[in-house]
Order: sequence, then structure tokens, then C-alpha cells
Amino acid sequence: MEKTFIMVKPDGVQRNLIGDIVSRFERKGFKLAGGKLMQIPSSLAEEHYGEHKEKPFFGELVEFITSGPVFAMVWEGENVIATSRQMMGKTNPSEALPGTVRGDFGLTVGKNVIHGSDSPESAQREIGLFFKDQELVSYEKND
Ligand code: CMP
Repeated sequence: MEKTFIMVKPDGVQRNLIGDIVSRFERKGFKLAGGKLMQIPSSLAEEHYGEHKEKPFFGELVEFITSGPVFAMVWEGENVIATSRQMMGKTNPSEALPGTVRGDFGLTVGKNVIHGSDSPESAQREIGLFFKDQELVSYEKND
């Protein structure tokens, strides 16, 4: 079954949005395969956001994502990668529709509350960066 990496960013943790975001994914019907509150080391942040290394905001991005704890998760389900992108809304919260996480809670493109993998390749890479195999739980879930 398809899996994706979802992370409540430091602004989302500070604003007590972990519960709301977990609840949205639970109510949608996805299955939680792993989750942890963690402080991201700079080395991991730089690797995670490696594709943005040349962007002018890279330093700011790494500084922000390491500024406080994040809640990292792996969610599983049919089309979970594309569907969770829809649930998160556009990267820039000013363009994200109401009803999406960023549309409901975000204001700026930097502090946009949540991160989610954008493709199967990113999902595999990001899950591998943040979780050891033994931290992911495989179980039956009834609807
Ligand atoms: P995320 O989905 O975590 O992936 C890359 C992040 O870069 C993105 O969300 C935004 O938070 C951030 N980002 C994109 N554009 C900018 C920008 N112009 N200034 C600061 N951060 C940005």
C-alpha cells in the first residue's frame, strides 16, 4: 500500500495543530504507520531540502525547520501521496483553499504549517531519512 511522509512544521507544533492535522488524516481514512516528535538536526534538514539548495530561501528554510520540534509521520492508504497534497493545499497559504490545512491555518509560504511528499520517489526518500524500518508499524485497520 502507498505510503507518504507528512510533517507538522515548527509553527504547527507551536500553534497546537498536531491534533487537528492527525485528526484530518484519521477521518479521511488513512492509516498511521509511524509518528514522532523530534528536533531536526541541521544535517538532516539540509538533506531533506537538498533540492532547494540553490534557492535564495534555502538558509531561511533550514533555520526555520530546525527552530523547534516537528511532528514527523508516515501515513498509508490508497493514493495517499496525491490526496494528502490536496488536503494540505497549495504551498503558498495565500493560494490554498479554505478546508485545506494551509488554507485554514497558514499565512506565509515560509511558515506554512505542514510538509508532505510530492511524489512516490520523494515519499520513499523522505520516509527513509526520518524513520528506521523498525519504527514503522504494520497492522490491520478496520474502517
Ligand atoms: P515544503 O512543502 O516544506 O517544501 C519546501 C518549502 O520551501 C515549502 O514547503 C515552503 O515552506 C518553502 N518555501 C518555498 N518558497 C519559499 C520562499 N519564497 N521563501 C521561503 N520559503 C519558501
